[in-house]
Amino acid sequence: MPRIAYVNGRYVPYRAAQVHIDDRGYTFADAVYEVVLIAKDVLVDEGPHLDRLDRSLRELRIAPPMSRRALQLVLREVIRRNAVHYGLVYLQMSRGVAPRDHIFPDAAETQFVAWAKTLAPQPRSFAEDGVKAITMPDIRWERCDIKSTALLPNVLAKQAARDAGAYEAWLVDTDGFITEGSSTNVWIITPAGELVTRAADAAILAGVTRRTVVALAREEGLRFVERRFSLAEAKAAREAFVTSASSLVLPVTQIDDQVIGNGKPGSMTSRLRARYFHYMAADHAR
Ligand code: PDD
Repeated sequence: MPRIAYVNGRYVPYRAAQVHIDDRGYTFADAVYEVVLIAKDVLVDEGPHLDRLDRSLRELRIAPPMSRRALQLVLREVIRRNAVHYGLVYLQMSRGVAPRDHIFPDAAETQFVAWAKTLAPQPRSFAEDGVKAITMPDIRWERCDIKSTALLPNVLAKQAARDAGAYEAWLVDTDGFITEGSSTNVWIITPAGELVTRAADAAILAGVTRRTVVALAREEGLRFVERRFSLAEAKAAREAFVTSASSLVLPVTQIDDQVIGNGKPGSMTSRLRARYFHYMAADHAR
């Protein structure tokens, strides 16, 4: 079945889906995006994703191209036309197409594109062995709470991870604290059994998966605290994991050269992973 993308009001073959060379998303990364997990044919945590999109648009003063209701219909249509039962839907909104000038154009229409793709289930080794992370200086800007397409530092960090045979790069701020992964939020479980993730300040993206996992951890009765943690604390952790719409809840069993715990996914992480898998397949995720 040919893939179909949505481009500014039209459903077009994926290979013919194009934007103008003066799209400000292309020239300036003057654009925001969302990646939403699709499980059992529906968008998981759709409301929080669209709330975050609204916030990103507001922060950058990009006009929403349509109502939320209309946007939801477009996303459903993209998913339906691509017959995605488990996968991701990607949507991007740029400030518009205008002759290149840093200043906002007077009259530009928000450009909106979307596509969906089927994902293979995660490899079994992810749950059984976990993945490796490397660490890198966080060289990004000070508004990482905005989900903008300006992802070059994230791209370089993820590539460094790949080059090192790791899954993710954990980013370290100038004070020595972990901010987040190149495309994930990061978590540790301390030797005292406390679940820790950084508070959602401007140094990180407030992950939608993070938000759900916080709720699940509370339901599980885990001792949870939002605070910064250092690289040294991460390396001394009993367990570690990352979360995102595409990674789900993914155990991290090595950070740089340091094996975490006994080198296998820990029990709290595995419990939260199982809870998340259950959640994403359940009705209340809608
Ligand atoms: N990334 N932090 C960063 C920098 C991210 O790019 C992402 C998501 C997250 C996790 O957010 P969420 O749980 O809402 O997916 C945290 C997406 C998946 C991406 O860029 O592909």
